[in-house]
Amino acid sequence: MAESMKGLKRSHRCTEVSNALIGQNVTLMGWVQKRRNLGSLIFVDLRDRSGLIQLIFDEETIGTEGFEKAGRLRSEFVVAVVGTVEKRSGAVNENLATGDIEIKVNELRILSEALTPPFPIDADTSVKEDLRLKYRYLDLRRPNLQKNLILRSKVASSVRSCLNDMGFLEIETPILQKSTPEGARDYLVPSRVHPGTFYALPQSPQLFKQLLMCSGYDRYYQIAKCFRDEDLRADRQPEFTQIDMELSFVDVDDVIEVNEQLLYRMFKDAIGIEIPLPIPRMTWQEAMDRFGSDKPDIRFGMELVNVTEIVKGCGFGVFTGAIEAGGTVRGINVKGQGDMPRKKIDALVNRAKEFGAKGLAYVQMKSDGTVKASFSKFMTEEEMNNLIQAMDGQAGDLLLFAADKNKIVWDVLGNLRLDMAKTLELTSKDDYRFVWITEFPLLEWNEDENRFTAMHHPFTMPMEEDLPFIDTDPGKVRAKAYDIVLNGTEIGGGSVRIFQDDVQEKMFECLGFTREEAYERFGFLMNAFKYGVPPHAGLAYGFDRLIMLMAQEDSIRDVIAFPKVKDASCLMTEAPGKVDQEQLDELCLSLALPEEEK
Ligand code: AMO
Ligand code: AMP
Repeated sequence: MAESMKGLKRSHRCTEVSNALIGQNVTLMGWVQKRRNLGSLIFVDLRDRSGLIQLIFDEETIGTEGFEKAGRLRSEFVVAVVGTVEKRSGAVNENLATGDIEIKVNELRILSEALTPPFPIDADTSVKEDLRLKYRYLDLRRPNLQKNLILRSKVASSVRSCLNDMGFLEIETPILQKSTPEGARDYLVPSRVHPGTFYALPQSPQLFKQLLMCSGYDRYYQIAKCFRDEDLRADRQPEFTQIDMELSFVDVDDVIEVNEQLLYRMFKDAIGIEIPLPIPRMTWQEAMDRFGSDKPDIRFGMELVNVTEIVKGCGFGVFTGAIEAGGTVRGINVKGQGDMPRKKIDALVNRAKEFGAKGLAYVQMKSDGTVKASFSKFMTEEEMNNLIQAMDGQAGDLLLFAADKNKIVWDVLGNLRLDMAKTLELTSKDDYRFVWITEFPLLEWNEDENRFTAMHHPFTMPMEEDLPFIDTDPGKVRAKAYDIVLNGTEIGGGSVRIFQDDVQEKMFECLGFTREEAYERFGFLMNAFKYGVPPHAGLAYGFDRLIMLMAQEDSIRDVIAFPKVKDASCLMTEAPGKVDQEQLDELCLSLALPEEEK
């Protein structure tokens, strides 16, 4: 039978009780972590979101009935206790914040009993994630998740206070929007009032924040829910949160400056880390050339080396063939791995193939001074020596080469570089290395659709000096777009926006929209621009990714209270679910399921 808490009021959270309170009476409420009976004494660890404290029951203090009740306590029972703070009678527990004190209980009430939980509520991380997600409400009692959600709340509050100080206004934008394809797939919501039509959930507040600039709000922000129906990965969720902002009368440097202040405040307030400012900047081209990635992890070296010039006249057809076809040959030097066994090298070759490589050429510079290359028979000794020299190869090094189109070479070596860093444990999660990536290409060729798509989005401003190429060589045009990258993860991105009709129309033309199509989709924005639009720019952070890195977790699921799994379902509520025929009828919807779904 559950007892009432009537007449009691919680005075402290468990770890708010300190030895400064010794001798005083406190009232605590929380969950039973563990009970131990020691004959005439019963010890209980009491838990709340702040942590643990030890309770001690003896019959003399609490009476026979109370002592019996204490004996019935089980893990996860919810209790209220009144007692005196005392110095610990037994050994001090160094692992607990409250390890040198205990509460001698004189009143106990059982507020709620509990079934045995399907897994222990402690820091143990070996419990299968599926089980944890099915019982997320129990999982969320564990200290690791509580720590993450507390951090998340702290960062949100730091963001608000910092942006408010800088003159930003927090403004909400609608969740039910018009579908404006481009970007990821939309989540659709059928309209009952207008049968046959649909709202889309926002992929980001992009268009509305630009409209707010048109309306003169000049500095906007929002901690906004975004929805994208895309394939999930460890750092992606179908619904996620952005820290979204937009500013008027600014250019790239202004946005970067504001955001460096914001990042500094967030990291200082939430985890006590002072980011050295200014954050280094790198153009997209430099990032690709040096790291094979537009989100480089700069915590370690192993940079890509372009050896195209060195090998272009050599006898190795794989290299010269790739160069003649317009590609390049590049390599990385994996220091200290020259004696890698054949099996592991074969695994690297296979890994390279996963990223589209036709093969992976390698030179093993063994520690005994001998050199073994997969292509030695195709090169003279001099050619080989030049290549090794270009790669700064020393005894004990492993040199890996890819020859292909740039895109493949970057992808292969960029990913092998990350793989090797992981295997060799070259990085540490508490080393926070930020970098801005700037001057992204404006457009990206889409092989499947046989057209250009916007690399960031269609409202991104081209760099003025590249505007002349927009008709002749659109692929060459760089954008006023920037990403902020932390330890190899893109935590945010944004751009200066187009605010001139003619440039916007040109952009839609490049993307293959007719004028009519562009107006049909984005007419409200283009019309708004006709009534006086300030130059504007903005940026959005992936809030979940940011917290994941701050919390040093590997998955964004560990920093989201109720996340979804790989197939976008929720294991606890079993969403998405079927709906009644009546609900479908009301929406004038009928289902045409493929055979296997019926
Ligand atoms: P973008 O599409 O780059 O830009 O998104 C901004 C940031 O959001 C995070 N992010 C995600 N996080 C979790 N799950 C996802 N599925 C997911 N998709 C994106 C990333 C990314 O850097 N409106 C523009 C911003 C602007 O131009 O101002 C936008 O949405 O960390
Ligand atoms: P092959 O002559 O095809 O046996 O290749 C000789 C060596 O070149 C092998 O080590 C292959 O793995 C490697 N190789 C093949 N294609 C490529 C490529 N595109 N880039 C780098 N190495 C390659």
